[in-house]
Amino acid sequence: MPIKFTTDKININDRRIINGADADVIQLYPMKHTFAWDAYTVGNANHWLPTEINMQKDVEQWRSPIVLTEDERKAFKTVLGFFTTADSIAANNIVIAAYRHITSPECRMYLLRQAYEEAIHTHAYQYIVETLALDEGEIFNMYREVKSIYEKESFILAFNEGIFNPSFKTGTLEADQKFLENIIIFSVIMEGIFFYSSFAVILGFKRQNKMVGTAEEIEYIMRDESQHLNFGIEMVNTIKAEQPELWTPAFQQKMIDHVKEATRLEYQFATTAFPKGIFGMNADSFKQYIEYIADRRLNRIGLPSQFNSQNPFTWMSETIDLSKEKNFFETRVTEYKTGGALEW
Ligand SMILES: [Fe+2]
Ligand SMILES: [Fe+2]
Repeated sequence: MPIKFTTDKININDRRIINGADADVIQLYPMKHTFAWDAYTVGNANHWLPTEINMQKDVEQWRSPIVLTEDERKAFKTVLGFFTTADSIAANNIVIAAYRHITSPECRMYLLRQAYEEAIHTHAYQYIVETLALDEGEIFNMYREVKSIYEKESFILAFNEGIFNPSFKTGTLEADQKFLENIIIFSVIMEGIFFYSSFAVILGFKRQNKMVGTAEEIEYIMRDESQHLNFGIEMVNTIKAEQPELWTPAFQQKMIDHVKEATRLEYQFATTAFPKGIFGMNADSFKQYIEYIADRRLNRIGLPSQFNSQNPFTWMSETIDLSKEKNFFETRVTEYKTGGALEW
């Protein structure tokens, strides 16, 4: 759209996450969606790079014939196999699909940061694969070869089709619901559910004092992902407020059904990837954990709990809970800020 030559100022009430008045330039003010700017600031303060983490101990443990069992090696590789493609799908969705239709300049600012973070995550997996001298072909191709990974990724990708289409436009009830559905699929399900049994497994390694470098990489990724999830949830709730007509009972039920299906797929992934369980986490506890997470995600977009399961991995929330997380990462973040300062 050409820019209009005018002295008229932007009216803050015309600002919308989608279908807003002005998306031609990133004109930040008047700022309406301040949560997006806050997320952008937090993202910058949390900046990290995979190569800063020492992987020496992981290399020794991976080479040692006695530290890791065969089941542990298989679990480690499967989790990595899922992660490698998941983050690239997330990045593609931001850059190729979501960004184009979002008309809030401040949300676009955060999406630029988020897309870069997804690239950092893919870099982290590459770095782990390279330092441990794993078979790249095996890890990076798992999404085609391991059925439970394939099914999770296919589930997500099916929702891209509509908004990836170059002729897709927001502005009708049907299209706007499709767009909102896409955000829910990516934030609430992809970033909010599909990563979590894999996070739990890697943190399980750490609790055994195994593969601690990898675990540190994953903790940084978890911190970023919980920020992405928070941002996605804020967008969903803001779109609901800006266009309440989208949030019909039928649409709500559809989202609940998606979350239930995702919970099933994540459980299937956990039980086939770790058939004998791992570090005392068995099929039942994975199921409970995934259900517990799914309910929390539903509640945050205003939908009712479906499972009412207790959290069997309470130790996970010590790492994940955002309030505690800030303390958890405080030293490192401060160090980064100093280390990352420009030198003249
Ligand atoms: Fe990511
Ligand atoms: Fe993400």
